[in-house]
Amino acid sequence: MLSQAVPAGGMRSMLRGLPVLNGAGPPFDPLATPDNPVELFVDWLLLAIRSNAVEPHTMTLSTVDNDGRPSARVLILKDVDASGWHFGVNADSQKGRDLAARPVAALTFYWPELVRQVRISGPVVADPAEVTGADFLARPTGSKAMALTRRQSQPFLDPAELDAALDQARSELDSSPNGVPDEWVSYAVRPERVEFWQGDPTRRHQRIRYDAVDRSWTRTRLWP
Ligand SMILES: Cc1cc2nc3c(=O)[nH]c(=O)nc-3n(C[C@H](O)[C@H](O)[C@H](O)COP(=O)(O)O)c2cc1C
Repeated sequence: MLSQAVPAGGMRSMLRGLPVLNGAGPPFDPLATPDNPVELFVDWLLLAIRSNAVEPHTMTLSTVDNDGRPSARVLILKDVDASGWHFGVNADSQKGRDLAARPVAALTFYWPELVRQVRISGPVVADPAEVTGADFLARPTGSKAMALTRRQSQPFLDPAELDAALDQARSELDSSPNGVPDEWVSYAVRPERVEFWQGDPTRRHQRIRYDAVDRSWTRTRLWP
């Protein structure tokens, strides 16, 4: 059942009237940035967390399948360090299959409260088994049980099937509380390119792009 009616003026006009870039952008000097983009990302992420940005650790993960078809979805960032941006996936899901076929990805963060966006792209590498194991075991019980159904992204036909699969997953968890399913994979995006975008209400946005070149980073300012 639908609950909303498009206003008489039409959707285009409604969208045109919505505010955007309305947050309080902190000062940002692209000429005073660190050599390494991970350091700048951590600084921006910490400010987003400490500014109470809504769900600052969520990001859009974009992948491509074997035929080059793109798809994107929101995921939770698990960690960021010198080896990259880490997230966990079920290998049988669409994103899991995409990453197995084409191990490249793009991540997009947007913190509207700070009018900041960060874009990261590069090859995706599976984390060592101990990182994957710790990532799975740190999940809340409900998330672990759902992962153990091993059915994410499959057509959902019968709610009873989900109940039965969850019952089975819970007994698997009870009998093997420290088990990590083979289907769970923690990946890291190894950054090749990272762009920081600081929005400005007058549209004089500040952009700086880091590119990995010969084990080092170049920095290029970009037009808004
Ligand atoms: C805020 C938010 C957080 C999410 N976090 C996760 C997550 O950590 N892991 C996950 O598998 N899906 C998460 N999802 C659901 C995914 O966006 C997606 O629907 C799901 O992973 C299936 O994607 P796929 O079919 O492309 O594999 C989240 C969705 C939202 C809106």
